[in-house]
Amino acid sequence: MCGIVGYIGTKRACPILLAGLSRLEYRGYDSAGISTIEKDGLSLVKDKGRVKVLEDKPEINSLKGTIGIAHTRWATHGKPSKENSHPHQDNHKIFSVVHNGIIENFQELRSMLEKNGYNFLSQTDTEIIPNLIHYYYEKEHENTVHAFLKAVRNCCLDLKGSFAIEVISKLFPKNMIVVRKDSPLVIGTCEDEKYLSSDIPAILSYTRDFYFLNDLEFALLENTCVKFYNVNLEEIDKPSSSIEWNAAASEKNGYEDFMLKEIYEQPTAIRETIGSKISLDNKCDFEELRFTKSYLETIDKIYIVACGTAMHAGLAGKNVIEKLCRIPVEVDIASEFRYRNPILNEKILCIFISQSGETADTIAALKLAKRCGSKTIALTNVIGSSITREADYSMYTHAGPEIAVASTKAYTSQVLLVNMLAVYFAEILGNTDVSEISNIKQEMLNLPKKIEETFSCKDAIQEFAKKIYQEKDVFFLGRGIDETVAKEGALKLKEISYIHSESYPAGELKHGPISLIENGITVISILTDSALMEKTISNIQEVISRGAKTLVITSHACDPSMFDETIQIPDTITYLSPILSIIPLQLLAYYISKEKGLDVDKPRNLAKSVTVE
Ligand code: G6P
Repeated sequence: MCGIVGYIGTKRACPILLAGLSRLEYRGYDSAGISTIEKDGLSLVKDKGRVKVLEDKPEINSLKGTIGIAHTRWATHGKPSKENSHPHQDNHKIFSVVHNGIIENFQELRSMLEKNGYNFLSQTDTEIIPNLIHYYYEKEHENTVHAFLKAVRNCCLDLKGSFAIEVISKLFPKNMIVVRKDSPLVIGTCEDEKYLSSDIPAILSYTRDFYFLNDLEFALLENTCVKFYNVNLEEIDKPSSSIEWNAAASEKNGYEDFMLKEIYEQPTAIRETIGSKISLDNKCDFEELRFTKSYLETIDKIYIVACGTAMHAGLAGKNVIEKLCRIPVEVDIASEFRYRNPILNEKILCIFISQSGETADTIAALKLAKRCGSKTIALTNVIGSSITREADYSMYTHAGPEIAVASTKAYTSQVLLVNMLAVYFAEILGNTDVSEISNIKQEMLNLPKKIEETFSCKDAIQEFAKKIYQEKDVFFLGRGIDETVAKEGALKLKEISYIHSESYPAGELKHGPISLIENGITVISILTDSALMEKTISNIQEVISRGAKTLVITSHACDPSMFDETIQIPDTITYLSPILSIIPLQLLAYYISKEKGLDVDKPRNLAKSVTVE
């Protein structure tokens, strides 16, 4: 949902900003722009299209300034166009601003500014920001950096909604001011350079030391120092955090696309998520949680709340918590949960899953749960992300940066982490058979090797993709935990191949959806739960007899002549099976998208991190 970068240092800002934008393009890619402080004032180069369009503009080469801001856009207010692209400037071209988020009261503020003589060139909500800063700056009686800071602060106090903002001014050629509220922004720091970005990976090649702002904290930057202020503009201390991800993890490393690289990184991601927490000799230990038996015994219900793929990981993890801990679990879509007046109190534990840790609906749902007295756990991949600052406890998947919009390694490590959490709770509660827990742990440790084995399906999947890539509709079936994987498989396919795909619990098919099955239609089924296998096979027979083409992903012996294509995957315990059975479906979505010649990593209309409602 829009990517912003900034640089303040000793080198030419422009190439650094363009490189940062390319890395952030997954967040939005309908227009891009840059503004730097030049000898004769603020530069502004922007246009509709991808970062490449910006790079190819001749004006770009003349930008020599060492301070600049840049933006890649995912349109909300106003269609993609040059006028609507960021950065935006005030009418007097004194301030340049980039913004990620949504200003909900922009109409009201725009009318106020229009009454005060300001004109607007775009349809965006953002354009009010530089003008409002100008409006407040004019009221100051001194031309000091503090007056600049005060004007930015006063502007932000008027804004309703979410924002991460970077501001530069031709009046203060050595400074930049940044602020955030409910939208991501990180500050990377080196001795005489400062890097700003919507996420950590985009600037990891320059520094591992980061500052994270809380809502409505302001950073006043110079190349050699950063000062932090609270909303009353009192200076505050902020420690920096060192990030362990390495820069190579944010590059393609020879893979054609990030998605393919991330699919193949799953054995490592799973190994890292397990870390030293799972061993056969010791109890699973999450020192970041420190839950007691007496607390866990008071829990009436667990909600798992998330969006998209993260929500599917929650669905896949529901059964293991219920089975091992005997606590009921409800899985909810964050955008629904927050508006449906859920029953929340101190006896409810809420787990929020979010790869990015920045999804607006998930964070809002978390805030609601906290307000109602429930304990909250954030389960995320990104250290320092907004959700970790809101939650009572945070747990990390350690999957490494995930760049492709379609989530792959984040999903499998989320499923694993929910299983690990279930084991952790079960060991504290002490009411589950020790041998069952040992078996789960052993299977967790076996996962990286079994994922490697699963990759052997690649050629068969690639061939199947060639057969079906022109289809208009594809159905996914499964029962129990396999149905949760069917949901994720269907989402992967629609996200990156634009093929209409639906998932159904196999037994539900005959209650309506079977009317859609006709000659030649593709039905993909997941069969890992031996207890439900025969039932699902009967459902597959029902679609075969109506002319469906079938692909079956199974961990059990099946007569391959029964289906058009059978993909054999290693067997594991049911709770962990999604971590293996999703892999052929990730590869299928990938190869279909490639066959169609689409941009796998940046599918149309989608953004990796949805920081608006
Ligand atoms: C977007 C992405 C999905 C992702 C969802 C939740 O819709 O396109 O791939 O699953 O957001 O993101 P989160 O970062 O909260 O896991």
